[in-house]
Amino acid sequence: MIDDVVKLFRELDSKDLRILTGIEIGMKHFEWVPVEELLKYTRLPYSSLEYKLRLLIKKNMVIGTNQPYEGYQIYFDGYDTLALNTLVKRGTISAIGDEIGVGKESVVHEAVKEPELGLGELQGVILKFHREGRTSFKNVKRLRSHLQDKEHFSWIYAARLAAKREAEIIRKLYPDVSVPRLLDNNRHALVMDVAKGTLLYRTKLEEPERFLDEILRQVGLVYWKGYIHSDLSEYNIFVSEEGVQFIDWPQFVETAHPHADELLERDVSNVLKHFRRKYKIDRNLKDVVSRIKKDPGSLHHS
Ligand SMILES: Nc1ncnc2c1ncn2[C@@H]1O[C@H](COP(=O)(O)OP(=O)(O)OP(=O)(O)O)[C@@H](O)[C@H]1O
Ligand SMILES: [Mg+2]
Repeated sequence: MIDDVVKLFRELDSKDLRILTGIEIGMKHFEWVPVEELLKYTRLPYSSLEYKLRLLIKKNMVIGTNQPYEGYQIYFDGYDTLALNTLVKRGTISAIGDEIGVGKESVVHEAVKEPELGLGELQGVILKFHREGRTSFKNVKRLRSHLQDKEHFSWIYAARLAAKREAEIIRKLYPDVSVPRLLDNNRHALVMDVAKGTLLYRTKLEEPERFLDEILRQVGLVYWKGYIHSDLSEYNIFVSEEGVQFIDWPQFVETAHPHADELLERDVSNVLKHFRRKYKIDRNLKDVVSRIKKDPGSLHHS
């Protein structure tokens, strides 16, 4: 079911968004943003700021502490809301739908984009919120003792960085490599095209050899652009009549990386294992890897 983003925002007013933005900005300098900073930023009277903060805490958008001073951090739903607000204002999406995936490091939703110039049909897109730093976030209480540390760790920073990294690599690879097109990136959120077909692990291919060739060809194209996916497996490869698409890029490395060889081998090995197990196709790992490194074109004829 599609939730109107506007409906989601109806419960929040511009003051709430201002408070969330104030906390976001404050988190550049503070692990816990002091209430005084928020008073200054929002120009709200103390009583209504406190009241609104309570509600934001209830909605899981903000968390607070009283020790050693009254301070606040933005929480996932709050940061998601800020990103959504920006994406909607930009016209990148107009509605958000079901959660279709919760990974270790992300939450992925279906979403809807208005057609260009308001003409044509609504377009389904993918909205991915990064969640890196969540584990460190669990240790936040422990970290409080280090409040004096200048280099405090903030999960929003880690998540934003990962999203930027993923956005940049997709921009570099598209359209030469088969990846879903990136439509927008704000904060820790990415908007991209829906990958075609289904994930490799979920389907039984009728022409597995053809798809394996195509997957390895794409690995070669990525390699010859100077990158290695580094988290490639049947869980991050979509297959369709039109071919294959690789998703989930934030772990990529450059081919100059000290562990490049191992990572490339691991990617290829994951793929070969899948095809061996499910389709009894046997290919030699070393041969395939050395061919990728020598000449991606040769993979056409394997
Ligand atoms: N462009 C896309 N088109 C269709 N589905 C997608 C797309 N991007 C992500 N998904 C869905 O969301 C899931 C999680 O996305 P992704 O693999 O990018 O994130 P992740 O957090 O790294 O996941 P994991 O930890 O499970 O590898 C995918 O397995 C897939 O089902
Ligand atoms: Mg994944």
